[in-house]
Amino acid sequence: MRTRRAALAVTAVSLVLSLAACGQNSEGGSKSNAKESGTSTVGIAMPTKSSERWIADGSNIEAQFKKLGYKTNLQYGEDNVAQQVSQIENMITTGVNVLVVAAIDGRALSDVLQQAADKNIKVISYDRLILGTKNVDYYASFDNEKVGVLQATYIIDKLGLKEGKKGPFNVELFAGSPDDNNTRYFFDGAWKTLKPYIDKGRIKVRSGQTKLDQVTTLRWDGGTAQKRMDDLLTRAYGKEKVDAVLSPYDGISIGILSSLKSDGYGTAAQPYPIVTGQDAEVASVKSIVAGQQTMTVYKDTRALAEQAVQMADALLNDRKPEINDDKTYNNEVKVVPAYLLNPVSVDKSNYQAELVDSGYIKASDLK
Ligand code: GAL
Repeated sequence: MRTRRAALAVTAVSLVLSLAACGQNSEGGSKSNAKESGTSTVGIAMPTKSSERWIADGSNIEAQFKKLGYKTNLQYGEDNVAQQVSQIENMITTGVNVLVVAAIDGRALSDVLQQAADKNIKVISYDRLILGTKNVDYYASFDNEKVGVLQATYIIDKLGLKEGKKGPFNVELFAGSPDDNNTRYFFDGAWKTLKPYIDKGRIKVRSGQTKLDQVTTLRWDGGTAQKRMDDLLTRAYGKEKVDAVLSPYDGISIGILSSLKSDGYGTAAQPYPIVTGQDAEVASVKSIVAGQQTMTVYKDTRALAEQAVQMADALLNDRKPEINDDKTYNNEVKVVPAYLLNPVSVDKSNYQAELVDSGYIKASDLK
């Protein structure tokens, strides 16, 4: 974080320098699209306010741009694809200079991003890769496959499979929204980690639902996950107990835990199974502290915002954004240059150091 903060400070300094240069140039007319940050506006399109993480993302991005002197237009699509498209259209019409977009449906933005390209508005894909269009310039995200690897590794470790516990252990699998490109990266990472144990019969998926299209959860909705878990418990678990649930996201984990609770889990005689998660949302961290959800994957949205901001700021000032990956994320039209951050596995043993001491969550919010 410190290095990134320092990097951002350098960015701020270079912005000032380049703006000064731009000012000197302006009489002769600058051929670049470099704007004085005081008059440049950034369009920020976020997917939903129903999850705390996106509220934090939006306000982090907004605050960091404002600190550099930009104006911002922040909109939330409330998980409604048409609404997000029209919000981005409005941003283009009202004259933003760059767009930062976390898509609801990664495939639904081709037309609107063509309108952006026609006006020479660059686009940064935020957290979720925008698919099927050449009009996405950079991608700021996390190592998404590693998220799934961390969740599955946690299950394997906690079940003691590496130490030689034979099992078989009953594990059920959940994945995210089918229209979010991250979903398959999370699931692939988890699947390749669990598969050797499934092949040897040491992990059993009693529902038989192991294909991605059988386990997705539209719009990452906790209620939808809760219903599916109810159904799995009814159909595949009589006397048998669930030992672990692979959940890709905290909101889904909360739904799964509610279902388990209604089925009698969460007592001394029948403790909750291992339940993974992602995003380190306050409700889930509280649940982890209370011994319900077992782990989450922490992705520091402050650091992600910094990457998106440095990308946009560089583009607006004719500099090359900093990237650390130019191979992994093919959006089916091109490989999108990316900056990928590192996700961190968090449970009861390290939440204090990772989340509280780092200032990500206030200790008082966990009371
Ligand atoms: C994903 C994101 C996850 C989680 C999920 C549901 O795209 O990478 O961290 O937030 O959406 O919001």
